[in-house]
Amino acid sequence: MEDKVIIFDTTLRDGEQSPGASLNVFEKLEIAKQLEKLNVDVIEAGFPISSPEQFEAVQRIADEVNVTIAALCRAKEKDIKVAFDAIRNSDKPRIHTFSSTSDFHILGKFGDDRYGKTLEEKRKTVLKMSYDSVAYAKTFCNDVEFSAEDAGRTELGYLAEIIETAINAGATTVNIPDTTGYTFPHEYGMIIAELRKRVSNIDKAIISVHCHNDLGLAVANSLVAVENGARQVECTINGIGERAGNASLEEFVMALNTRKDITKNYTNINTREIYNTSKMVSGFTGIIVQPNKAIVGENAFAHESGIHQDGMLKNRNTYEIMTPDSVGVPKTKIVLGRHSGRHGLKARLEELGYNFTEEDLTKIYSKFIDLSDKKKEVFDDDLRALMGDESLVLKEYYHLEYLHVHGGTDTIPTATVKLHVNGSGEIAESATGDGPVDAVFNAIDRALNLDTTIESYHVRSVTSGRNAMGEALLRIRSGQKSFSGRGISTDVVEASAKAYINALNQEYRSKLKKQSEEKIEV
Ligand code: KIV
Ligand code: ZN
Repeated sequence: MEDKVIIFDTTLRDGEQSPGASLNVFEKLEIAKQLEKLNVDVIEAGFPISSPEQFEAVQRIADEVNVTIAALCRAKEKDIKVAFDAIRNSDKPRIHTFSSTSDFHILGKFGDDRYGKTLEEKRKTVLKMSYDSVAYAKTFCNDVEFSAEDAGRTELGYLAEIIETAINAGATTVNIPDTTGYTFPHEYGMIIAELRKRVSNIDKAIISVHCHNDLGLAVANSLVAVENGARQVECTINGIGERAGNASLEEFVMALNTRKDITKNYTNINTREIYNTSKMVSGFTGIIVQPNKAIVGENAFAHESGIHQDGMLKNRNTYEIMTPDSVGVPKTKIVLGRHSGRHGLKARLEELGYNFTEEDLTKIYSKFIDLSDKKKEVFDDDLRALMGDESLVLKEYYHLEYLHVHGGTDTIPTATVKLHVNGSGEIAESATGDGPVDAVFNAIDRALNLDTTIESYHVRSVTSGRNAMGEALLRIRSGQKSFSGRGISTDVVEASAKAYINALNQEYRSKLKKQSEEKIEV
């Protein structure tokens, strides 16, 4: 059996399902291009039928990125057709269809009698749906992946039957997801080993694994699955994904690389691109990487105690099992400033993995100049934060013209905002609040006649030092939906105002999409 493990990156699909993550089309394209540099084998670009924005992002990625592009779809004809429409321009399209296979899922999702009265009848319906969906997908492209959702909790005999059926229908990859992150490594390894024994046509497909991290076992389970014959691992950058996330790409890949003494398996990942990719994904999604996160956390290569530092100076192997260099952690901090010029900025952004047109660069450069007026030294993390500013690529419906805040220990915080609203001109309003940020939010609400609920709100500093840039991340609720917003500034109150306006712009765009959605045949 081949020793190579195929890396199927699902940052843009399962990763984007992380609570609070939301990526626009430009950000998805940037990440996909960076994943290409990282040399992943497959990019799962999204779930095209779920929204016109998802469809567009998958389509742009399929057009511009030259690796296998997978599109997810339920086991329904309309889903499958839309998924293929989104990836039809790719040189290497893959349709990824899935059915629920555990009794929990079957009884929950197919409870209606039209799927059968008994569990046995419902299982038969799911078996037929799985066959039909793979066979239908095969009419569009040869590369078809089938996933048995909640395989980790599916009765083994039935799982084997459904996998054999999917392969008979033409599936070239069969995925065995531990959807709820429930299994222990020995148990999951046994499932893969048993499928290899019980499924008569298993040699006609690649076995894939997709592990969730609810018990913190996603990477361990993926490693054991590979030991037992799986040859594709589905994972995400920084381990983001539904709930506690998915297996982390960087952890899985570096585990194989570091322990070559116990495994013959390898991947084609260009590990020196790991750090840049992690930073880009964190910057665009707003999901902060915990400092003690393996491989990509800020402390992953920091040696704090005297004993450790002394040992490291004598011989790096004392406490270091892999080098920071091997995952692309830069040796020195590159600092830019006002005098770095447009060329200096362009070169550094390209080194950090970003792609942009000359027209984009003009906008980025102007923001960079504003920043370097406020802050003498501009670090890589400042540039990454700048690249996540949506106003660079998307038209703003609401724009913050100015903001004045009055506060202090003995005064009632008061804010005045002036907003530019597309189509209605400028509106200025003032309000008080419990603190300066609350006063700003109240003034915006008053100006726009809103009564929005803020679900979450965080501020962090992007770099260190007293003139560090602050990044505000928040989520607002509007009806059934939430919208995330992000703002950056050397002034955290201004960053918060920008984040709020960014979330309101997202909400506005979503309303526009909803109107056009009715017209799009999906
Ligand atoms: O976790 C899961 O089961 C999934 C499937 C759609 C592959 O994400
Ligand atoms: Zn998943």
